[in-house]
Amino acid sequence: MKEFRHDPIDPNITSGENISFWTASTSPIKYKKLNKSIDTDVLVVGGGISGLTTAYCLATSGRNVTLVEDGYLGSGETGRTTAHITYALDDRYFELEKIFGKHKAMLAANSHMTALHWIDKTIGLEKIVCGFRRVPGYLFLHSSDKIETLEKEYESTRRLGMFTEVLSKVPGIENLTEPRCIKFPGQGQFHIMMYLNGLADAITRNGGKIFTETRAQDIDKSGAKANGYTVKANYIVVATNTPVNEIVTMHTKQWPYRTYVIASRVSKGMLPYALWWDTGNVRSKWITDPYHYVRLQEYDNLYDLLIIGGEDHKVGQAGKEDIPEQNRYDLLWEWAKKKFPAAGNIEYRWSGQVMEPVDSLGFIGKNPGDDNIYIITGDSGNGMTHGTIGGLMVAGMITGKKSLWEELYDPSRKTLSTAGDYLREAGTMAAQYADWITPGDIKELSELEPGQGGITSSGLKKIAVYRDTNQKIHAYSAICPHLGGILQWNGDEKSFDCPVHGSRFSASGKVINGPSIDDLKKLEIKEEKSR
Ligand SMILES: Cc1cc2nc3c(=O)[nH]c(=O)nc-3n(C[C@H](O)[C@H](O)[C@H](O)COP(=O)(O)OP(=O)(O)OC[C@H]3O[C@@H](n4cnc5c(N)ncnc54)[C@H](O)[C@@H]3O)c2cc1C
Ligand code: FES
Repeated sequence: MKEFRHDPIDPNITSGENISFWTASTSPIKYKKLNKSIDTDVLVVGGGISGLTTAYCLATSGRNVTLVEDGYLGSGETGRTTAHITYALDDRYFELEKIFGKHKAMLAANSHMTALHWIDKTIGLEKIVCGFRRVPGYLFLHSSDKIETLEKEYESTRRLGMFTEVLSKVPGIENLTEPRCIKFPGQGQFHIMMYLNGLADAITRNGGKIFTETRAQDIDKSGAKANGYTVKANYIVVATNTPVNEIVTMHTKQWPYRTYVIASRVSKGMLPYALWWDTGNVRSKWITDPYHYVRLQEYDNLYDLLIIGGEDHKVGQAGKEDIPEQNRYDLLWEWAKKKFPAAGNIEYRWSGQVMEPVDSLGFIGKNPGDDNIYIITGDSGNGMTHGTIGGLMVAGMITGKKSLWEELYDPSRKTLSTAGDYLREAGTMAAQYADWITPGDIKELSELEPGQGGITSSGLKKIAVYRDTNQKIHAYSAICPHLGGILQWNGDEKSFDCPVHGSRFSASGKVINGPSIDDLKKLEIKEEKSR
């Protein structure tokens, strides 16, 4: 496989070493940094699809809205997406019917369909050039799964009012043991960074304010501190993917998974524009079965990009399957070559994080215990529509429009139907604290090559170490500032990842994914042997 090492990337652009096609093919979306204290009606924290949709809805309703983003727009998970816009959810509808009943499953379907139509309509209204097109989506069987999964899903989608149909062969894919699939007509795809840029332009045209390189801290009911200045607000929307306004409640209701993407060149005309998903590996050790997700994207005059995702694992726990992060791309490629023989050179690869809520539905609405702080989290890999639902709902709640979906997505709802999964996920989370007493993966600093990191022990202390390309060793406490998990080195994105709730830190110790709000504590250590 092609070598994909880059110079260290500006952490304002993206949250790791690898850079997605979307980010590589557009200029960074930068605004001014906040440089004074301000008053605003609504403060939105986070410049991904959730935050920008919220700010857009509020600005176009005439509200005074300010959005702050600690990198540039799209520098979180939105810039690392594959941008399928679909109501074919990655958790099955027949499971949703089992957990929530038919009426609520229907509401869930309706919310994602509404989001897809809203995106289509808004792109037209605001004249956003982002390559949006309607495409069919095909759900087919993973080789480990049984045909009943497709049968039950088809029946459930029909019961819930979708115009799905069963096809005897999946268009575009070869070498499937079970050729049948469910077709979801009229789904969507776009270039996500071009879409965000269009939303941001519309926000500022409608009087909204956006500040980038502006990190919000100390969020409470009166507003927040940002870059050391005070932002006073009547309403606060925390759209930071994993909420950074509180440290416990929401982080016991969802689990972070890391997911991988390769983008391979395909001659134009060889494959149809479409979305493809398999039903997931039912033999996987993870509670959320990893599945493959594929789409075609326009690239240049001669080629399209086939964008293939999957090989998920819980954040910081890739080693539990003995498949390090950097080896997951090879597995994706092995799978893709068989199913799409036209796939050629790999042009891009990257990874990112999704939050898996315990009962399959996201959390949108008032933060538990707060009256004027709202959260949008729990995207479950459907964040294009989920983030859009979040924006529509939260803006509606602030402007006094009641939504049919409020109870369904209420962050304070009880999630008893999935108690078994909850205990298993909570168990694997708690098990990570055992790393306190196991030795680190690095015995001697001399083992570290330039650009590599790891965890070492000194007595009872755990130390996160990184050797930069000038041979200098950087050392930090390996104890996650959130709730004390022991960090793991991610050799692919070159970050220290926490296996407990998914916080991530760059090789320079800066926090790049919450829930931690703090950087790693720097330590001084001496390397005894000269290299
Ligand atoms: C590889 C991959 C493939 C995916 N594919 C799909 C797909 O095909 N379809 C789909 O629907 N979904 C997909 N998803 C999920 C989807 O991309 C995400 O759910 C969605 O982008 C999340 O958007 P967000 O706005 O909630 O979060 P983010 O985009 O992460 O935005 C949150 C922002 O908050 C900022 N922030 C954090 N803390 C602070 C702070 N204290 N102050 C200021 N700013 C802060 C961050 O920098 C970040 O930019 C995929 C995800 C990944 C990783
Ligand atoms: S993210 Fe919670 S302990 Fe690390």
